[in-house]
Amino acid sequence: MCGIIGIIGREPVAPRLLESLRRLEYRGYDSAGIAVQTEAGPERRRAAGKIRNLEAVIAEQPVAGTTGIGHTRWATHGAPTVANAHPHSYGKVTLVHNGIIENYAELKAGLKAQGQVFESDTDTEVIAHLLDSALQSGLKLKDAFKSVLYQLHGAYALAVLVSGESDTLLGARRGSPLVIGWGEDEMYLGSDALAVGPFTQRVTYLEEGDWVILHKASAEVRDAGGFLVNRPIVTVSASAALVEKGSFRHFMEKEVHEQPESCQRTFSAYLDPVAQSVRADIKAGIDFSKITRLQIIACGTAYYAGSIARYAFEKIAGLPVDVEVASEFRYRTPAMTPGTLAIAVSQSGETADTLAALRWCKDQGLMTAAVVNVHTSTMAREADLLWPTHAGPEIGVASTKAFTAQLSALLSLVVCAAAQRGRITKAQEAHYVQTLLESPGLIAEALGMNADIVRMTYELSKARDVIYLGRGDMYPLALEGALKLKEISYIHAEGYAAGELKHGPIALIDEKTPVVVIAPDDDLFEKTASNVQEVAARGGRVIMITNVPGKVPTLSGDAAKSLKVIKAPDCDPFIAALVYSVPIQLLAYHTAVHKGTDVDQPRNLAKSVTVE
Ligand code: AGP
Repeated sequence: MCGIIGIIGREPVAPRLLESLRRLEYRGYDSAGIAVQTEAGPERRRAAGKIRNLEAVIAEQPVAGTTGIGHTRWATHGAPTVANAHPHSYGKVTLVHNGIIENYAELKAGLKAQGQVFESDTDTEVIAHLLDSALQSGLKLKDAFKSVLYQLHGAYALAVLVSGESDTLLGARRGSPLVIGWGEDEMYLGSDALAVGPFTQRVTYLEEGDWVILHKASAEVRDAGGFLVNRPIVTVSASAALVEKGSFRHFMEKEVHEQPESCQRTFSAYLDPVAQSVRADIKAGIDFSKITRLQIIACGTAYYAGSIARYAFEKIAGLPVDVEVASEFRYRTPAMTPGTLAIAVSQSGETADTLAALRWCKDQGLMTAAVVNVHTSTMAREADLLWPTHAGPEIGVASTKAFTAQLSALLSLVVCAAAQRGRITKAQEAHYVQTLLESPGLIAEALGMNADIVRMTYELSKARDVIYLGRGDMYPLALEGALKLKEISYIHAEGYAAGELKHGPIALIDEKTPVVVIAPDDDLFEKTASNVQEVAARGGRVIMITNVPGKVPTLSGDAAKSLKVIKAPDCDPFIAALVYSVPIQLLAYHTAVHKGTDVDQPRNLAKSVTVE
């Protein structure tokens, strides 16, 4: 996913574009660039790598002007080089793009056949050539832009400058989000509200297919058919404070420590502490007694949140649940049964595979819901039911507080479903609600493990492979733990169901292999303890996360010497995944810090993958 910004302003635009790009960097960061409208037409400055490299280029070669566009890239077509960095330019046209033009090769071939020369390997550059050709053919700007959009297949969010049109900025969205920002005699375009946050809190969310012609004091929005439409202006609270690191070294560290509050905020949207029940408005929005099955679709960490919730939905609410990664679900023509509720789980609400799977379910006539952190996202707007998480902006690419907020929302919905399906009494509902409401305090207590964990992660940072084990809903948490470690420390890690170890993966265990065992004191503890023995007998170096260190099996020899135990708070098994997420996250975080990787913006990743 990439980040784009456009400004028609009254002040020098280059520093403002950079300020916005720094807020967008979490969306992608392998190259960046700006273009500023000048008397001679748009002038570009581009750099490979982080925004700081672009800042250096602009410092060396300043560019003056009050209207401009900017882009930070997560490469899809073409290596992350300067030549492939946005903005792309041809003739009178200069533009930035987020998305994928699926028919770019065919379009490019046609343009090359006309003798046009390309300077990059990107799909984006084709759009600049098409629009310049349309303008050269004599079409007016509006008609030229519309004709080009009709030729594009795939996803785009665009911001476009045209030479000679100094007070004009073109924008369009299909499949990638784009907002208009309303200023005082200034206008903005951005990938999201955070992008325009430094300048305004008044935004308009463009709908699928919308395109816009912006001037300093006006915006002409048209729908996919080219008809003028009015889209509402809303006020958002993307305040600067929410997107600063404060005293923390990384956004991820800050977001791990925000979890008591972010889970508390999420619970307050679902649970009524006075009535000790699920909130009436949540119950009014859904009748789980009419739902025969849940189909949860998600990607990455959000998929693991759904996988954890499945255990509780089935055990407590008696509701059959399937959970599947969206990229598989959407292409296999799944057999859906009537009465299924499809639930998309997503931090960004823009992940392409999850969005496509949600749309497929809607097309099949299923009722759809979205558990999302960005309440104005495409999924939030297209699902029949919005179940928000309230984690606040999550800037670290590795998801932490959004993950536990997803668990908070889903576990609250488990209680709602159990109550509506008559599986629990009012007293039991009150017990579950109370248990959930106690979890933020236990999460805060779990953060107290930080110092213990720092001490063991230096050794972990030297490992080549790490294994994570868990049983029951600790198994998807083991998968999440492995993903966290992989994505920020670049150490190979795999999660397994502890009971599965002896069916092959145990061949991986040797004295160089740390094995992280997640073992709350539940009805599976003894079986997990046996797995610890199996690992120790083969020289594996066990790191056991448990609230009952006294029950850790007695080991011998080197295994006893290398054994490390992380003491977790005592907690009800119903909320163990929430509490045990913290040591899992801290293990990955501190290991990555030891390795010196870019924790908030790990290589090759982006915060939300809005391309397939
Ligand atoms: C999580 O640490 C990863 N960054 C990634 O797996 C993420 O969870 C996945 O891309 C889904 O994103 P979403 O929640 O915005 O849909």
